[in-house]
Formats: sequence, C-alpha cells, structure tokens
Amino acid sequence: MQYDCKDLKLADAGKKRIEWAWENMPVCGLIRERFEREKPLEGVRIAACLHVTTETANLASTLRAGGAEVALCASNPLSTQDDVVASLVKHEEIPTFAVRGEDGERYYGHIKAVLDTKPMITMDDGADLVSTLHKERRELLAGIKGGTEETTTGVIRLRSMERNGVLMYPIIAINDAETKHLFDNRYGTGQSTIDGILRSTNMLFAGSRFVAFGYGWCGRGTATRAKGMGANVIIVEVDPLKALEAVMDGYTVMQSLEAAAVGDVFVTLTGDTSILRKEHFERMKDGAIVANAGHFNVEIDIPALEGLAVDKRTMRDNVVQYVLKDGRKINLLGEGRLINLAAAEGHPAMVMDMSFANQLLAVEYLVKGKAGLDKRVHPVPREIDGAVASLKLASMGVKIDELTEKQKRYLASWEEGT
Ligand code: ADE
Repeated sequence: MQYDCKDLKLADAGKKRIEWAWENMPVCGLIRERFEREKPLEGVRIAACLHVTTETANLASTLRAGGAEVALCASNPLSTQDDVVASLVKHEEIPTFAVRGEDGERYYGHIKAVLDTKPMITMDDGADLVSTLHKERRELLAGIKGGTEETTTGVIRLRSMERNGVLMYPIIAINDAETKHLFDNRYGTGQSTIDGILRSTNMLFAGSRFVAFGYGWCGRGTATRAKGMGANVIIVEVDPLKALEAVMDGYTVMQSLEAAAVGDVFVTLTGDTSILRKEHFERMKDGAIVANAGHFNVEIDIPALEGLAVDKRTMRDNVVQYVLKDGRKINLLGEGRLINLAAAEGHPAMVMDMSFANQLLAVEYLVKGKAGLDKRVHPVPREIDGAVASLKLASMGVKIDELTEKQKRYLASWEEGT
C-alpha cells in the first residue's frame, strides 16, 4: 500500500483520538451500521481531499465499511493531524498521503497520488482535487461518476467551472445543505476559530475589540462567540443586506480602514483575496493580532506585511511577530492559513457528524445514480438534509411535535383566513 506519513509511531495515539471523536458522531454511526449490512459502495473507488482530522478518519472508515476503496490526501498543507494519518495507514490500511506543513509541491504530489487510484467518486474540500483533475489528469474524467464538495470556497470555484462550461461531471454541494452550513459553518467555525486564536495567543477576549471581516455563516458564528466572551465585535462587510443584519444583531459595522485603526484582533472570513492589505497594516495598533478563518491563505496579504517589516520572529507556536519600521508589532497567526485547523483541531466531532453524514448519504446517492445527474453543481437532496436533522435530534434525545390533520389542512388551503 502506498502512503506518505510523518511518523507511523504516532498511530496508537491517533487511534485513541479517532475513537474519542467517534463517540460524538452518532449519526455517522447509524449510517455505518446500515453500510456494513448493505454495502452500498461495494467496489467503488473514492479519492478524498479533505482536512485529515479525527473526524475525517471516521468518515473514511465509514465509507470503507460501505464497501468503498478510499484514498485520502489533505485539502490544506497545515490542517493535517499527523497522528491521524499514521493511524489510518497502520490500523485501517487506508492509503493516506498527508504531512502537516508540507510544501506546495508535496501537497499537489499527494493530490496526484490519490488521483492515481483512478477514482470513480471524488470528495473535495476547496476544489483543489477537482481542479487538478480537470487541468492535469483529464484521462481520468471518463471513469468518474460524480463528486461532492464540502466547503463554501469549493462550491464557489465549482460554480465558476459550471458557468464556464468546463465542469465535466456532477458534483453535490454538501456545503449548501442546511444541516451543513447552519451548523458546521456557524457553530463549528465559530467555536474552533476562537479556539485557534486562544491556543496560539492565550489572549483575553473580554474587553478586546474583535474585528470580523465577512458576515456569512462563519462570520456570524465567530462574531457570536467572540461577543459571548466579552469582546466588542466590529463587522466589516461589502454586502448591504449582511451589513444591515449585523447592525440589527447589535454589532458595530464600519469600513475596513476605520476598523484597522481600532481593532485588537482581526479575523478574515470572506473566501476572497487581499482582505487585509498594506493600508490596513499601516494603521493597526501595536500588538494587533491578525488571523484568517477562510479556506485559502489569500485573505491576508502576507507579502505586503513582509514588505513593511524590518524584523520578524516566531514568538510562540503559530505566532509570527512582524516588527514595522516605526516599532509597531503585528502578530500573524498560523501563517494566514485557516486558524481553526492550523492552531486548533477544527470543528468538533459533534458538528462534523452532520456534515459527514451528508457526505456519506450524498456519495451513496451518486453511486446509486438513479437521478442521472448532469454535469453541474447540484444541491443535496432535501430528503437527505431532513434525514440528517432527524437523526441528529434523535441522537440528542430531542423529540419534536407533528402537525395535526387540522393544521395540515389549514396550511394547504387558501380559502381560510381570519
Ligand atoms: N473542517 C473544519 N473542521 C474540520 C474537521 N474537524 N474535520 C474535517 N474537516 C474540517
């Protein structure tokens, strides 16, 4: 079996952490029981490019329990948990190619290694696998039945491929399922972004000025958590609707240059490039903390920060301090890579349970192929979203009411008013 792993000796530690996560993945657990019985993925080759975490390990082994052959690589050079890779290789015998901190060449080499397994299904988080496949390994396209995409950034890239007529197979946008973005993006990113900032800096949130760039689901979640810890939260937005929502949610909304001068901590959560630039760094206070929670490391213009700096030193794990000409210090966290996975452990298992349940059911849906999907980006079928919500509630012991017959009739009629 081929693999690339930092150190196989980490395998036993990884196994325990994977088991710990599994205890909080009951929805995937129910799916795994059915997959073991029914083997809906028998003989299906899957190439997965995902953050290699304890939760992803459980996803991979559940796919295997359903009969699939899985090969896994990282979807970000700095999100890999090396003990998890070791455990997947040693205990699960899943070909896994990921080393935390790998450079760009090794990162893409790993993507190519999973593509070498001639996948029938692709699972992506950020669309690097799909884009490499379409650019460099087109001979594999004929064998591919479909794919899934985990995250907002990936879905945006894929929609651009669809618009340009270059997407060559159907892909299900897991991110757009309500049981994904309303929970994973909001509560998962919200909590784990704060976790990453805390683990790297040990700063006090209470009384700080926390500037969030972007008020999508990740921004909303992160702002709520920062506020809950006593920070004064400032939102920077370009979309008037979202900005208005932030105002009515009780936040201060201001332009980025104004925010740059007053903030203590800055977090980018936009999915776009060059959000924090030279003109922002020039205005920041001494000791400002700068982090990114978006998928790619393009939101903070690091070359601009390097250009302004006369000195740079690593202060703690995941903290590089840039000293500017006038003596001000700006602290960049996690090399500008997504801070929740670079400095913490990513979203907790309890929320990944829902995202990955959507993944599992979407892969099964693609493999069964009844719908004959065309070469576009498709939503997760409503039934899957609803099933994941019901299973999650059941796993939490929460029961809900059903509509009475009278209520159903009322909702279906147009004649009845006051
Ligand atoms: N994305 C964010 N958190 C994650 C996690 N824990 N596992 C996999 N992908 C993630």
